[in-house]
Amino acid sequence: MMPFIDLATQRARLQDKLDTIISKIVAEGRYVLGPEVTELEQRLAEFGQADHALTCANGTDALALPLMAWELQKGDAVFVPSFTFASTAEVVPLQGATPVFVDIDPDTYCMCPKSLAAAIEWTKTQTDLKPRVVIAVDLFGQPADYPAISEICKAEGLKLIADSAQGFGCTLNGKHPAAWADITTISFYPAKPLGCYGDGGAVVMRDAELAGLIRSLRNHGEGEARYAYERIGLNSRLDTLQAGILLAKLEIFEEEIVGRNAAADAYAEGFGDVVKTPTVIDGGVSVWAQYTIEVDDREGFRAKLAEAGVPTAIYYPIPIHLQAPYAGFPVAPGGLPVTEAAAHRVVSLPMDGYLGGERQQAVISAVRTAVA
Ligand SMILES: Cc1ncc(COP(=O)(O)O)c(C=O)c1O
Repeated sequence: MMPFIDLATQRARLQDKLDTIISKIVAEGRYVLGPEVTELEQRLAEFGQADHALTCANGTDALALPLMAWELQKGDAVFVPSFTFASTAEVVPLQGATPVFVDIDPDTYCMCPKSLAAAIEWTKTQTDLKPRVVIAVDLFGQPADYPAISEICKAEGLKLIADSAQGFGCTLNGKHPAAWADITTISFYPAKPLGCYGDGGAVVMRDAELAGLIRSLRNHGEGEARYAYERIGLNSRLDTLQAGILLAKLEIFEEEIVGRNAAADAYAEGFGDVVKTPTVIDGGVSVWAQYTIEVDDREGFRAKLAEAGVPTAIYYPIPIHLQAPYAGFPVAPGGLPVTEAAAHRVVSLPMDGYLGGERQQAVISAVRTAVA
């Protein structure tokens, strides 16, 4: 079976750099929030076209930290898609607030602005909940419809989080999500387009005050003085080793995004006539965390690809609002028919910055054979 994500080619390319930086960090002994962490934060802010970047322990904490900074509480509503990884919704009840699930666009799989507007209106008129925050997800690596979503947020006085766990590096009309969102959250989980060798996360933003609060919250709520606490916080810091690894990977990330886009183009050309291939929003550039197609007989399709040595994955088989722990939370008026239909049809194919050549041709011919 070929790899679903080839991390070995990147590892070989960066081997000398990674070995040098890892040895240096281990020898220096500043294992948590060391100098490489500060350097990485500067680079992430530049890369993401933001003024401030702060690293944290993972992409889930990256979502929790702004909700903590904005003091979300019981009675507050946070609008989230259901066609996403658990973290997007999970952080909301953890704060005592209520997630309100919103449907997606059938082609981009990202939050549908019309469903969002309807969900906000319903919440305001039919519930006692107070709309506070929208979390849009850059699903599979492509930017959500930020112009439309941020306009709704501005009109309603809501904060906007770009959950770019899968999408850091994506752009819309040349701008990163930070141009629209109050804060962009990132995951460095190993399988992400910019991944480290363990857990890691970050937030980027324009607002200095929010950055100050999150800097304190990620380190137990500590203030200026050591062991003097100004608020209740978390232990959510990035290890220096992971920062060193990410600095090396960030240097080649732009090139890898180009490689991912070339691979996505080759897939579309290879089988776009026989299966539904992904649509990227007009003016958008995806980082292709996943390459996700739609097929009718998904289990049959997966079995045929497995026989041909091609691994596949399902993101996501069960929408969050249909899962037991979330079943009591509200959904947008009219329900989430697009989300529920997509969950039955989607299947993701191998994708990374080094796809191409024989490996990709093998995937293309296996797809064509499977649907013939
Ligand atoms: C959309 C989305 N949000 C949040 C996260 C959470 O990131 P982490 O696994 O680093 O906590 C993920 C990770 O899979 C994700 O895909």
